[in-house]
Amino acid sequence: MNTEVAESHRQFEIAGVAEVVEGNGGLPKVQITTPECIGEIYLHGAHITSWKPSGEEEVLFLSSQSRWDEGHAIRGGVPISFPWFASKSDDPTAPAHGFVRTKAWQLESISQVERAVTVSMFTESDESTKRWWPADFRLVYRATFGPELGLELQVINTGRTRLPFEEALHAYHRVGNIRDARLRGLHGVQYSDKTDSNCKKMQRGEVAIIAETDRIYLDTTGAVELHDPVMHRVTRVVKENSRTTVVWNPWVQKARGMSDLGDNEWTQMVCIESSNVSSFAVDLAPGQQHTMKALVRVSKL
Ligand code: BG6
Repeated sequence: MNTEVAESHRQFEIAGVAEVVEGNGGLPKVQITTPECIGEIYLHGAHITSWKPSGEEEVLFLSSQSRWDEGHAIRGGVPISFPWFASKSDDPTAPAHGFVRTKAWQLESISQVERAVTVSMFTESDESTKRWWPADFRLVYRATFGPELGLELQVINTGRTRLPFEEALHAYHRVGNIRDARLRGLHGVQYSDKTDSNCKKMQRGEVAIIAETDRIYLDTTGAVELHDPVMHRVTRVVKENSRTTVVWNPWVQKARGMSDLGDNEWTQMVCIESSNVSSFAVDLAPGQQHTMKALVRVSKL
Protein backbone atom coordinates (compact mmCIF):
# COMPACT_ATOMS: atom_id res chain seq x y z
CA MET A 1 0.00 0.00 0.00
CA ASN A 2 1.32 3.45 -0.94
CA THR A 3 2.38 4.98 2.43
CA GLU A 4 1.20 8.51 1.69
CA VAL A 5 -2.23 7.26 0.69
CA ALA A 6 -2.35 5.01 3.73
CA GLU A 7 -1.62 7.92 6.09
CA SER A 8 -4.40 10.02 4.59
CA HIS A 9 -6.81 7.16 5.24
CA ARG A 10 -5.60 6.48 8.75
CA GLN A 11 -6.94 9.81 10.07
CA PHE A 12 -10.40 8.22 9.85
CA GLU A 13 -9.59 5.12 11.89
CA ILE A 14 -11.28 4.22 15.16
CA ALA A 15 -8.59 2.32 17.03
CA GLY A 16 -9.38 -1.35 17.51
CA VAL A 17 -12.76 -0.94 15.77
CA ALA A 18 -12.20 0.25 12.20
CA GLU A 19 -8.66 0.16 10.89
CA VAL A 20 -7.22 0.72 7.44
CA VAL A 21 -5.01 -2.23 6.61
CA GLU A 22 -3.43 -3.78 3.58
CA GLY A 23 -5.79 -6.29 2.01
CA ASN A 24 -5.32 -8.82 -0.78
CA GLY A 25 -3.10 -7.62 -3.61
CA GLY A 26 -1.86 -4.80 -1.35
CA LEU A 27 -5.17 -2.96 -1.84
CA PRO A 28 -6.26 -0.90 1.18
CA LYS A 29 -9.35 -2.00 3.08
CA VAL A 30 -11.17 -0.95 6.21
CA GLN A 31 -11.35 -3.82 8.66
CA ILE A 32 -14.23 -3.60 11.13
CA THR A 33 -14.16 -5.51 14.41
CA THR A 34 -16.89 -4.96 16.99
CA PRO A 35 -18.73 -7.22 19.44
CA GLU A 36 -21.60 -7.23 16.90
CA CYS A 37 -19.76 -8.27 13.76
CA ILE A 38 -16.63 -8.37 11.71
CA GLY A 39 -16.52 -6.96 8.22
CA GLU A 40 -14.36 -5.40 5.56
CA ILE A 41 -14.65 -2.94 2.73
CA TYR A 42 -12.00 -2.19 0.10
CA LEU A 43 -11.40 1.31 -1.24
CA HIS A 44 -11.05 -0.39 -4.63
CA GLY A 45 -14.64 -0.18 -5.85
CA ALA A 46 -15.96 0.66 -2.34
CA HIS A 47 -16.31 -3.08 -2.35
CA ILE A 48 -17.56 -4.89 0.76
CA THR A 49 -15.98 -8.34 0.87
CA SER A 50 -17.07 -9.63 4.26
CA TRP A 51 -19.79 -9.29 6.86
CA LYS A 52 -20.09 -11.82 9.63
CA PRO A 53 -22.49 -10.92 12.43
CA SER A 54 -21.49 -12.39 15.77
CA GLY A 55 -22.74 -15.97 16.23
CA GLU A 56 -23.36 -16.38 12.47
CA GLU A 57 -21.27 -17.66 9.62
CA GLU A 58 -19.99 -15.36 6.88
CA VAL A 59 -22.97 -13.94 4.97
CA LEU A 60 -21.24 -12.88 1.77
CA PHE A 61 -19.68 -15.14 -0.84
CA LEU A 62 -16.14 -14.33 -1.94
CA SER A 63 -14.41 -16.27 -4.71
CA SER A 64 -11.14 -18.03 -3.84
CA GLN A 65 -9.98 -17.12 -7.38
CA SER A 66 -10.85 -13.42 -7.30
CA ARG A 67 -8.36 -11.05 -8.88
CA TRP A 68 -7.01 -8.38 -6.58
CA ASP A 69 -5.73 -5.56 -8.70
CA GLU A 70 -6.80 -2.13 -9.82
CA GLY A 71 -7.88 -3.21 -13.29
CA HIS A 72 -10.36 -5.86 -12.18
CA ALA A 73 -13.50 -6.10 -10.10
CA ILE A 74 -13.38 -8.33 -7.04
CA ARG A 75 -15.48 -11.49 -7.57
CA GLY A 76 -17.92 -11.72 -4.68
CA GLY A 77 -18.94 -9.46 -1.81
CA VAL A 78 -20.91 -6.42 -2.95
CA PRO A 79 -19.70 -4.83 -6.19
CA ILE A 80 -21.38 -1.55 -7.14
CA SER A 81 -22.73 -1.36 -10.65
CA PHE A 82 -22.95 2.22 -12.03
CA PRO A 83 -23.77 4.02 -14.35
CA TRP A 84 -24.85 1.09 -16.49
CA PHE A 85 -25.83 -2.43 -15.60
CA ALA A 86 -24.06 -5.41 -17.25
CA SER A 87 -22.88 -4.34 -20.73
CA LYS A 88 -23.27 -0.75 -21.98
CA SER A 89 -26.02 -0.84 -24.59
CA ASP A 90 -24.32 1.52 -27.06
CA ASP A 91 -20.71 0.42 -26.50
CA PRO A 92 -19.78 -3.25 -26.16
CA THR A 93 -16.15 -2.28 -25.45
CA ALA A 94 -17.09 -0.39 -22.26
CA PRO A 95 -16.42 -2.18 -18.95
CA ALA A 96 -19.28 -4.42 -17.78
CA HIS A 97 -21.31 -2.95 -14.90
CA GLY A 98 -19.73 0.48 -15.35
CA PHE A 99 -16.50 1.85 -14.01
CA VAL A 100 -16.93 2.50 -10.30
CA ARG A 101 -16.36 -1.10 -9.20
CA THR A 102 -12.79 -0.81 -10.50
CA LYS A 103 -12.16 2.76 -9.34
CA ALA A 104 -10.23 3.78 -6.23
CA TRP A 105 -12.78 5.47 -3.92
CA GLN A 106 -11.86 7.87 -1.15
CA LEU A 107 -12.69 7.57 2.49
CA GLU A 108 -14.94 10.37 3.72
CA SER A 109 -15.59 9.33 7.33
CA ILE A 110 -15.92 6.42 9.74
CA SER A 111 -18.35 6.76 12.62
CA GLN A 112 -19.62 4.55 15.37
CA VAL A 113 -23.15 4.90 16.69
CA GLU A 114 -24.12 2.45 19.39
CA ARG A 115 -23.69 -1.05 17.90
CA ALA A 116 -22.90 -0.06 14.33
CA VAL A 117 -19.94 1.33 12.39
CA THR A 118 -20.59 3.37 9.24
CA VAL A 119 -17.86 3.69 6.64
CA SER A 120 -18.51 6.43 4.12
CA MET A 121 -16.66 6.63 0.81
CA PHE A 122 -17.06 8.81 -2.25
CA THR A 123 -15.97 9.02 -5.85
CA GLU A 124 -16.54 11.59 -8.58
CA SER A 125 -16.47 11.95 -12.33
CA ASP A 126 -13.01 12.59 -13.74
CA GLU A 127 -11.04 12.03 -16.92
CA SER A 128 -11.13 8.25 -16.50
CA THR A 129 -14.95 8.15 -16.24
CA LYS A 130 -15.43 10.69 -19.06
CA ARG A 131 -13.59 8.37 -21.38
CA TRP A 132 -16.70 6.19 -21.24
CA TRP A 133 -19.47 8.56 -20.15
CA PRO A 134 -19.59 12.36 -20.39
CA ALA A 135 -21.63 13.06 -17.24
CA ASP A 136 -20.60 14.90 -14.05
CA PHE A 137 -21.55 13.10 -10.86
CA ARG A 138 -20.62 12.40 -7.27
CA LEU A 139 -21.34 9.08 -5.58
CA VAL A 140 -21.38 8.59 -1.84
CA TYR A 141 -21.57 5.09 -0.40
CA ARG A 142 -22.37 4.48 3.25
CA ALA A 143 -21.85 0.94 4.48
CA THR A 144 -23.05 0.24 8.00
CA PHE A 145 -21.64 -2.82 9.72
CA GLY A 146 -23.55 -4.01 12.79
CA PRO A 147 -26.05 -6.72 13.65
CA GLU A 148 -27.46 -5.76 10.23
CA LEU A 149 -25.59 -4.69 7.11
CA GLY A 150 -26.82 -1.37 5.74
CA LEU A 151 -25.95 -0.17 2.23
CA GLU A 152 -26.72 3.30 0.92
CA LEU A 153 -25.70 4.54 -2.50
CA GLN A 154 -26.27 8.23 -3.13
CA VAL A 155 -25.92 9.63 -6.64
CA ILE A 156 -25.67 13.40 -7.08
CA ASN A 157 -25.93 15.11 -10.46
CA THR A 158 -23.15 17.72 -10.28
CA GLY A 159 -23.43 18.61 -13.97
CA ARG A 160 -25.55 20.94 -16.06
CA THR A 161 -27.44 18.33 -18.01
CA ARG A 162 -29.70 15.47 -17.01
CA LEU A 163 -28.08 12.34 -15.57
CA PRO A 164 -29.71 9.07 -16.67
CA PHE A 165 -28.12 6.00 -15.04
CA GLU A 166 -28.58 2.42 -13.94
CA GLU A 167 -27.31 1.16 -10.58
CA ALA A 168 -27.08 -2.10 -8.66
CA LEU A 169 -25.81 -3.29 -5.29
CA HIS A 170 -24.65 -6.57 -6.77
CA ALA A 171 -24.54 -8.58 -3.52
CA TYR A 172 -23.18 -12.14 -3.66
CA HIS A 173 -24.87 -14.12 -0.88
CA ARG A 174 -23.18 -17.22 0.41
CA VAL A 175 -25.33 -20.38 0.45
CA GLY A 176 -24.71 -23.98 1.58
CA ASN A 177 -25.84 -25.39 -1.76
CA ILE A 178 -27.63 -23.35 -4.41
CA ARG A 179 -29.81 -26.34 -5.32
CA ASP A 180 -31.43 -26.24 -1.88
CA ALA A 181 -31.79 -22.48 -1.55
CA ARG A 182 -35.12 -20.74 -2.22
CA LEU A 183 -35.99 -17.08 -2.68
CA ARG A 184 -39.27 -15.73 -1.37
CA GLY A 185 -40.88 -12.36 -1.97
CA LEU A 186 -41.01 -12.34 -5.77
CA HIS A 187 -44.28 -14.23 -6.31
CA GLY A 188 -46.46 -12.43 -8.87
CA VAL A 189 -43.58 -10.25 -10.09
CA GLN A 190 -42.80 -10.05 -13.80
CA TYR A 191 -39.20 -10.61 -14.83
CA SER A 192 -37.05 -10.25 -17.88
CA ASP A 193 -35.20 -13.52 -18.46
CA LYS A 194 -31.70 -12.74 -19.73
CA THR A 195 -31.08 -16.44 -20.42
CA ASP A 196 -34.07 -16.49 -22.79
CA SER A 197 -33.61 -13.38 -25.00
CA ASN A 198 -35.01 -11.09 -22.29
CA CYS A 199 -38.40 -12.74 -22.62
CA LYS A 200 -40.90 -11.39 -20.03
CA LYS A 201 -42.18 -14.06 -17.63
CA MET A 202 -44.20 -14.15 -14.43
CA GLN A 203 -42.77 -15.55 -11.20
CA ARG A 204 -45.02 -18.06 -9.54
CA GLY A 205 -44.22 -19.05 -5.96
CA GLU A 206 -40.65 -19.24 -4.67
CA VAL A 207 -37.58 -18.98 -6.89
CA ALA A 208 -35.66 -22.25 -7.08
CA ILE A 209 -32.36 -22.10 -8.97
CA ILE A 210 -32.06 -25.19 -11.14
CA ALA A 211 -30.14 -23.86 -14.17
CA GLU A 212 -28.30 -20.70 -15.21
CA THR A 213 -30.43 -17.91 -13.79
CA ASP A 214 -30.12 -14.28 -14.86
CA ARG A 215 -33.31 -12.34 -14.24
CA ILE A 216 -34.36 -8.76 -13.77
CA TYR A 217 -37.48 -8.70 -11.59
CA LEU A 218 -39.36 -5.59 -12.65
CA ASP A 219 -41.22 -2.94 -10.74
CA THR A 220 -40.67 -4.61 -7.40
CA THR A 221 -39.89 -2.74 -4.20
CA GLY A 222 -40.50 -5.60 -1.76
CA ALA A 223 -38.10 -7.52 0.47
CA VAL A 224 -36.54 -10.79 -0.68
CA GLU A 225 -35.81 -13.68 1.67
CA LEU A 226 -33.16 -16.26 0.95
CA HIS A 227 -33.96 -19.53 2.72
CA ASP A 228 -30.97 -21.80 3.16
CA PRO A 229 -31.76 -25.15 4.81
CA VAL A 230 -28.08 -26.20 4.60
CA MET A 231 -26.75 -23.20 6.53
CA HIS A 232 -29.96 -23.16 8.59
CA ARG A 233 -30.56 -19.49 8.05
CA VAL A 234 -32.74 -16.91 6.36
CA THR A 235 -31.18 -13.81 4.85
CA ARG A 236 -33.64 -10.96 4.38
CA VAL A 237 -32.88 -8.09 2.02
CA VAL A 238 -35.09 -5.04 2.49
CA LYS A 239 -34.68 -2.16 0.08
CA GLU A 240 -35.65 1.46 -0.51
CA ASN A 241 -35.76 3.53 -3.72
CA SER A 242 -35.10 0.42 -5.79
CA ARG A 243 -37.59 -0.82 -8.37
CA THR A 244 -35.78 -3.85 -9.76
CA THR A 245 -34.20 -6.91 -8.17
CA VAL A 246 -31.70 -8.95 -10.15
CA VAL A 247 -31.19 -12.64 -9.36
CA TRP A 248 -28.10 -14.29 -10.83
CA ASN A 249 -26.31 -17.62 -10.65
CA PRO A 250 -24.05 -18.69 -13.55
CA TRP A 251 -24.55 -22.47 -13.08
CA VAL A 252 -22.09 -25.04 -14.51
CA GLN A 253 -21.28 -23.92 -18.05
CA LYS A 254 -21.02 -20.19 -17.54
CA ALA A 255 -19.04 -20.64 -14.32
CA ARG A 256 -16.53 -22.81 -16.18
CA GLY A 257 -15.75 -19.87 -18.45
CA MET A 258 -15.12 -17.53 -15.50
CA SER A 259 -11.44 -17.60 -14.59
CA ASP A 260 -12.03 -15.75 -11.31
CA LEU A 261 -14.46 -18.29 -9.89
CA GLY A 262 -13.19 -21.54 -8.34
CA ASP A 263 -14.42 -25.00 -9.38
CA ASN A 264 -17.92 -25.58 -8.10
CA GLU A 265 -17.98 -22.25 -6.27
CA TRP A 266 -21.10 -21.36 -8.26
CA THR A 267 -22.95 -23.79 -5.95
CA GLN A 268 -22.11 -21.56 -2.97
CA MET A 269 -23.50 -18.25 -4.19
CA VAL A 270 -26.52 -16.37 -5.40
CA CYS A 271 -26.63 -12.71 -6.31
CA ILE A 272 -29.62 -10.71 -5.10
CA GLU A 273 -29.19 -7.22 -6.47
CA SER A 274 -31.20 -4.26 -5.23
CA SER A 275 -31.17 -2.08 -8.30
CA ASN A 276 -32.70 0.38 -10.74
CA VAL A 277 -31.96 -1.01 -14.18
CA SER A 278 -33.44 -1.39 -17.63
CA SER A 279 -36.67 0.64 -17.96
CA PHE A 280 -36.34 1.54 -14.25
CA ALA A 281 -33.15 3.52 -14.75
CA VAL A 282 -33.04 6.79 -12.80
CA ASP A 283 -32.91 10.18 -14.49
CA LEU A 284 -31.75 13.13 -12.35
CA ALA A 285 -32.06 16.82 -13.20
CA PRO A 286 -28.97 18.99 -12.53
CA GLY A 287 -28.40 19.36 -8.78
CA GLN A 288 -30.77 16.48 -7.92
CA GLN A 289 -29.76 13.43 -5.92
CA HIS A 290 -31.04 9.90 -5.45
CA THR A 291 -30.32 7.39 -2.67
CA MET A 292 -30.94 3.67 -3.00
CA LYS A 293 -30.73 1.60 0.18
CA ALA A 294 -30.56 -2.08 1.08
CA LEU A 295 -30.58 -3.65 4.52
CA VAL A 296 -29.42 -7.24 5.04
CA ARG A 297 -30.40 -9.24 8.11
CA VAL A 298 -29.88 -12.89 8.98
CA SER A 299 -31.83 -15.14 11.29
CA LYS A 300 -31.86 -18.83 12.14
CA LEU A 301 -34.07 -21.16 10.13
C1 BG6 B 1 -25.22 -10.01 -13.24
C2 BG6 B 1 -25.72 -9.96 -14.65
O1 BG6 B 1 -25.71 -8.93 -12.53
O2 BG6 B 1 -23.80 -9.95 -13.24
C3 BG6 B 1 -25.12 -11.11 -15.43
O3 BG6 B 1 -27.14 -10.02 -14.66
C4 BG6 B 1 -23.61 -11.07 -15.36
O4 BG6 B 1 -25.55 -11.05 -16.79
C5 BG6 B 1 -23.20 -11.05 -13.89
O5 BG6 B 1 -23.07 -12.20 -16.00
C6 BG6 B 1 -21.69 -11.00 -13.66
O6 BG6 B 1 -21.11 -9.95 -14.35
P1 BG6 B 1 -19.55 -9.74 -14.30
O7 BG6 B 1 -19.28 -8.59 -15.22
O8 BG6 B 1 -19.20 -9.42 -12.87
O9 BG6 B 1 -18.93 -11.03 -14.75
